[in-house]
Amino acid sequence: MRLDKLLAHAGYGSRKDVKELLKKKRVKIADKVVVKGNVHVDPKEQIVTVDGDTIDYEKYLYMIIHKPQNYISATVDDKDKTVIDLVPEKYQHYDLAPVGRLDKDTEGLILLTNDGMLNHIITSPKTDIYKTYYATVNGQVTEDHIVQFKNGVVLDDGYKTKPAYLELVESGTTSEIKLSICEGKFHQVKRMFRAIDMEVTYLKRLRIGDISLDKDLTIGKTRLLNEAELAYVKSLKK
Ligand code: URA
Repeated sequence: MRLDKLLAHAGYGSRKDVKELLKKKRVKIADKVVVKGNVHVDPKEQIVTVDGDTIDYEKYLYMIIHKPQNYISATVDDKDKTVIDLVPEKYQHYDLAPVGRLDKDTEGLILLTNDGMLNHIITSPKTDIYKTYYATVNGQVTEDHIVQFKNGVVLDDGYKTKPAYLELVESGTTSEIKLSICEGKFHQVKRMFRAIDMEVTYLKRLRIGDISLDKDLTIGKTRLLNEAELAYVKSLKK
């Protein structure tokens, strides 16, 4: 890749900032000063330094975010804040995008990456990755509903859902539940409860496949995937 692109990607500022760095002879490839940004470099093979500090090059970045309500799962929006606004400054140049969507009023786990292939795999209707949600609903959820969700319920557009696993956390006139689904139809969890005449009053995603929202990742915060989670996402690409 071009040296100026690599430096910009590694957080050394805009193309203009990078040009300045190069002009000041602060950049070296394999111990040789380089002043031209259009030089091609293989960051996996060649050591690139700025003021003697080696650049750690990661093409793809994988991050999770604890989405708050009122944020949109998109990269840009005309009127609302997006989950990308919560990405720390030092990762902004990675062009991250959310993998799938949560509604504006849904909280919880969102995976962000610039790995388009992984994004496509996880969101493809052909990939059965279970996602787990916690919800409160305004009705009494019973064992019958557990069976109904396992067998599939028919949504308002006639679509019959794939097997879903409902767990009762608390059952009363309002109930707390956990629901695992392997699909991502528009407003799916809310529509599944509507299919059994209940309304979801609060919704939070807890898990996507092997990636869980950890308890200490407070609302609005992000973290990079750990080793085990990285191995998991890479296994999905095979
Ligand atoms: N199902 C919904 O209804 N909303 C979400 O945000 C996610 C799943």
